[in-house]
Amino acid sequence: MAAPTEQRDEGGIFGTQREDLWWVPPTIIAIGFTAFIVYSTWAAWVGEHFFTGLPEAAAAAQGTNYLSPFYSPCLLQGCEHGFLAGVIPLEIGTISPAFFILWAPLGFRATCYYYRKAYYRSYFADPPACAVDEPRDDYQGETSFPFILQNIHRYFLPFSLALVGFLTYDAILAFKFSGGWGIGVGSIVLSLNAILLATYTFGCHSLRHLVGGGKDCFTCDEGDETVAKKSWDFVTFWNENHMLWAWLSLFWVAFADLYVRLVSMGVIQDLHIVF
Ligand code: FES
Repeated sequence: MAAPTEQRDEGGIFGTQREDLWWVPPTIIAIGFTAFIVYSTWAAWVGEHFFTGLPEAAAAAQGTNYLSPFYSPCLLQGCEHGFLAGVIPLEIGTISPAFFILWAPLGFRATCYYYRKAYYRSYFADPPACAVDEPRDDYQGETSFPFILQNIHRYFLPFSLALVGFLTYDAILAFKFSGGWGIGVGSIVLSLNAILLATYTFGCHSLRHLVGGGKDCFTCDEGDETVAKKSWDFVTFWNENHMLWAWLSLFWVAFADLYVRLVSMGVIQDLHIVF
């Protein structure tokens, strides 16, 4: 939305009377998003070194059982990890399994209310920041194509909730080594990944509306102690810091992929003990 006229410098795009470093947050966000998009695209494209349980990783992986979150759940034949392994009758090496999975979390994040605000500012300068002039005068919100498609966010929610389940399952299996149950750095990395994705997903605005029963005003009904209200309170708790969880979970999922990749390749050794 355009800034109020009286706050504008008449210098056109980026014109403002603000004297603070308003351009720093959108610049950092643009760098962060771009770095994640480049890394995740590459990591999904290569289609290898995503699971330390694969035979080719056995020598380097020291009996670990770590699956990259970009490739979870592992669906192709030859990925003996979880109950969905092999449901797609293709062998690993023919196509990257990540392509069957990443559309869901990427769609969920791309249409997330927080991320929309962030990339509208950082990539489209629309607006670049509060009280800073933007490139166009008309504002149609998200009522016309293509931005009206952002409304499909709610339909990505079930897939993201399922992903929290899959990643929790992976985190549990990360405590299982070829010699028995134990704990390693990778177990902690993948556990934190599942926790952070849960904190982000459980704070979703669409989830809050859904579990609250679609009501528009809870405070209008003092003393409401229904399950819907308690569920709404729970989601609201995580929703209050949705931006924080969005960034932490985004950073950590890339880090978890990188960690699994480096262990699988033998570049680093996983520290772990088996009980
Ligand atoms: S609004 Fe951000 S995940 Fe739904």
